[in-house]
Amino acid sequence: MNSNNNARAKFVSAEEAVRHIPSHSRVVVGHAAGEPSVLLTAMVENYAQYEDVEIVHMVCIGKGLYTAPELRKHFRHNSVFVGKNTQEAIASGRGDFTPVYFYCFPALFSNGQMPVDVALIQVSPPDRFGFCSYGISNDYTQAAAQNARIVIAEINEQMPRTWGDNFIHLTEIDYAVKTNRPLLEVPPLLPSAIEEAIGEHCASLIEDGATLQLGIGGIPNALLKFLNKKKDLGIHSEMIADGVVDLIEDGVVTNKAKTIHPGKSIVTFLMGTKKLYDFAHNNPMIELYPVEYVNDPYIIRQNHKMVSINSCVQVDLMGQVASTTIGYKQISGVGGQVDFVRGAAMGKEGKSIIAMPSTNKGKTSKIVPILDEGAAVTTNRYDVQYIITEYGIADLRGKTLNDRGKALIEIAHPDFRDQLREVWERRYIYKETNKTEGA
Ligand code: COA
Repeated sequence: MNSNNNARAKFVSAEEAVRHIPSHSRVVVGHAAGEPSVLLTAMVENYAQYEDVEIVHMVCIGKGLYTAPELRKHFRHNSVFVGKNTQEAIASGRGDFTPVYFYCFPALFSNGQMPVDVALIQVSPPDRFGFCSYGISNDYTQAAAQNARIVIAEINEQMPRTWGDNFIHLTEIDYAVKTNRPLLEVPPLLPSAIEEAIGEHCASLIEDGATLQLGIGGIPNALLKFLNKKKDLGIHSEMIADGVVDLIEDGVVTNKAKTIHPGKSIVTFLMGTKKLYDFAHNNPMIELYPVEYVNDPYIIRQNHKMVSINSCVQVDLMGQVASTTIGYKQISGVGGQVDFVRGAAMGKEGKSIIAMPSTNKGKTSKIVPILDEGAAVTTNRYDVQYIITEYGIADLRGKTLNDRGKALIEIAHPDFRDQLREVWERRYIYKETNKTEGA
């Protein structure tokens, strides 16, 4: 960080800015639509000046060019949430994955476990007092900048100015690069009939006045259309996408019933299209805070009627949820799934939902007797509560393993129920027989 409090950021070209990144350093890069793409591109174009630079990045929705095989001597990717464009690099060993709960990630920068040499960030233009907003992505970016030896910022004319604990002063930036380009976007996908059925089941568990966390993927989007008859919903979510704009404009999300931050939608990042980014610009109803606050289960629990909705890859008959791996292959990261599952469970009248189609594109059942070899458990069987598919809702809380199995088979795809029942009977038939005999 710039040690002279009176000094202003030095405005330079992208090429000049990235020249200050030393070889063998750790560079923590802002993620999702907050990715400072112009700076990453300049690094990749000038790759020859670097040797073994570690690039720590979370959700990569950009091109992820730093993972190209021919750049392996220059860049090494350390991912905390593998994106589509970085999966192959991680799977083939050109990068690695660090498992960490999202709300605990920023502490690694300050406690010496993951010291930051350079923070590469994207922010809004400064206001008249010299404060730039982190815009649509605060999450771990603020902590990275606060703990870095060197802060390099892309100051993008098109980055919205958003509210919350969400500002960095020009005196805290070492090198600044002015740009004027559209932010990266993730357009909402049209939900399938199956996703809509799942969305409808999820909506049936959401009461008026509930506060929602909406995860990543198609299902949260499918749910939104079934919320239009609800009253005074609130948002306390790691992220939100475009659909929430309609809910706010239609008066469904008012945040009036929230027990903390009433009247405000609280998030740590936004990921959608220009529609969402324009809506958030200077909008006092949306506030961004660092992820160590938003995703802290002890903060989440203070929201009464908190409902978390996330998705997964597989669930076994005990209720163990795998969300980030397909067998040995890392396809995403924990994000805030466990943070919110736990926070919702701890709160008054909270509910946590894991919602998924019953099959993977009709090919295999997502409810399985045992998780695939190599799969990592994301939400464990002690934390899990509701599992939802297009066939219904299984409430696993307080149920024995035997009853969990039964409940999960009832919401599995009919084509796979016999196979699942066969395994379940082998495990539990003795107890069933005993129960019948003892009855
Ligand atoms: N077996 C094999 N492949 C599977 C599978 C299974 N049981 N389930 C999913 N897949 C594959 C899909 O075919 C798809 O492959 P493709 O990329 O080649 O098309 C890929 O995994 C992603 O599945 P999809 O259903 O398209 O994903 P989604 O966009 O709905 O997201 C998760 C689902 C689980 C990947 C996503 O919710 C996630 O990463 N969750 C963990 C993090 C989290 O919950 N964060 C919450 C706070 S933001």
